[in-house]
Amino acid sequence: MLSLVLTVLILYSCFLNNGSCDLYDELKELKTEFDIKLYQRLAESENRTNLIVAPASVSISLGLLQFGAQGNTFTQLENALGYNIHDQRVQDFLYTRYEEVTNSSQGPVVQLACALFVQAGTHLSPDFIEHTALWANSSLRKTNFSEPNRTAAQITEWVTSNTGGGEADSICLDTVASPLNQVAVVSTMYFKSLWQKKFSFTDTQSLPFTTAEGFTLKVPTMYHMAEVNYGQFHTASQEQLSVAELPYLGATVSMFVVLPSERTSLSQIESHLSAKIITVWAKSLKRMKMDIFLPRFRIQSYFDLKMVLPALGITDMFDPTEADFKGISDQGSLYISEAIHNAKIEVTEEGTKASGATAMVLLKRSRTPIFKADRPFIFFLRHANTGSVLFIGRVTNPSE
Ligand SMILES: *[C@@H]1O[C@H](CO)[C@@H](O)[C@H](O)[C@H]1NC(C)=O
Ligand SMILES: *[C@@H]1O[C@H](CO)[C@@H](O)[C@H](O)[C@H]1NC(C)=O
Ligand SMILES: *[C@@H]1O[C@H](CO)[C@@H](O)[C@H](O)[C@H]1NC(C)=O
Ligand SMILES: *[C@@H]1O[C@H](CO)[C@@H](O)[C@H](O)[C@H]1NC(C)=O
Ligand SMILES: *[C@@H]1O[C@H](CO)[C@@H](O)[C@H](O)[C@H]1NC(C)=O
Repeated sequence: MLSLVLTVLILYSCFLNNGSCDLYDELKELKTEFDIKLYQRLAESENRTNLIVAPASVSISLGLLQFGAQGNTFTQLENALGYNIHDQRVQDFLYTRYEEVTNSSQGPVVQLACALFVQAGTHLSPDFIEHTALWANSSLRKTNFSEPNRTAAQITEWVTSNTGGGEADSICLDTVASPLNQVAVVSTMYFKSLWQKKFSFTDTQSLPFTTAEGFTLKVPTMYHMAEVNYGQFHTASQEQLSVAELPYLGATVSMFVVLPSERTSLSQIESHLSAKIITVWAKSLKRMKMDIFLPRFRIQSYFDLKMVLPALGITDMFDPTEADFKGISDQGSLYISEAIHNAKIEVTEEGTKASGATAMVLLKRSRTPIFKADRPFIFFLRHANTGSVLFIGRVTNPSE
């Protein structure tokens, strides 16, 4: 009944907006496509390490820069993101998306924030200041790039306060004191939730995990038997993989665990990822009762996006002579000297930090199919209603 009402509402609003439904679908796919490409470029450059990225927060920060960019700097951002931020419908789409994703009323807490650290004394365009104030938890901060260590400390403090507190590596800026007007763009995302069906602490035990290099480690591995959505797929070149969906409390967000078959490497699956593939997986999973084994893991990734955005065609904004941010400041010479991204996730039995595990040997014979993440896997957190990819990452070594 509810879904019928929703369908009618959606059809009705498409009718009213005359064709904007196509645009909506197109934006949805473009956005996910950007998310996946970003992950793929990062995965290539960070060889074989655990990693996590929150594409939603990266595209929010690039969207903000797009407001202030002009000329070729703007065009590069438009080409990479796939949309023009000056289109009101695009703004509405992105803003609604942001509100849906950060809505904590159903359980998961998603904190997303973006800040531009700008050289103190730079005159900023009032238009840009206003856009920032209205844009998805964004803020402008003044700093003095002639004092790089203080700037680094300010950025570290801001990142820490936006990723659930706790310890944080201090950020190392490769900024040199320079008379040019620099901007550091920083984006963060933090997620906290309980599982819909908790794993029991007493069922966690040390089990083997085989790395890509062929080493076998013993890692704390959570276990439960549950009804989950599960499917087996293969890539165009016939590499096998299986996908299990583990919902978080409220079922608005799920973790999809993508496990290659034993003979398939993670990179073969990574290069196969696309917005369409993810949608196909999410739609074709079948509900079944399974024994689930998943290692506990904790990943915090800092990325210098300067190393990866050029691979997506975004170069001019990092170049002091090419960057055009006249929409941020008419003083000219503004360029992006740092683009820092931080994402953090901790996966435990219930969502809080796990206590010392007791090893209970679980040896029972049953006919229940098994999903056992005992080798490198990819995971992504997907918002069910919108299909948004909140996080995407991989675990190559859960004990790191
Ligand atoms: C990744 O590491 C492996 C071995 O450690 C090496 O053979 C390969 O060339 C590396 N790839 C990249 C892109 O650095
Ligand atoms: C958050 O979600 C709840 C329940 O789905 C809804 O009632 C509420 O309006 C939403 N809030 C925002 C700010 O979208
Ligand atoms: C917005 O940012 C503030 C701090 O900068 C943070 O406390 C808050 O949770 C964020 N809100 C959302 C919805 O992410
Ligand atoms: C930035 O720091 C330098 C070196 O400490 C100082 O000379 C300059 O006045 C500072 N600029 C601003 C705007 O505070
Ligand atoms: C700034 O930090 C660098 C590296 O952490 C250190 O070598 C240097 O002495 C620091 N400079 C100042 C002025 O504190």
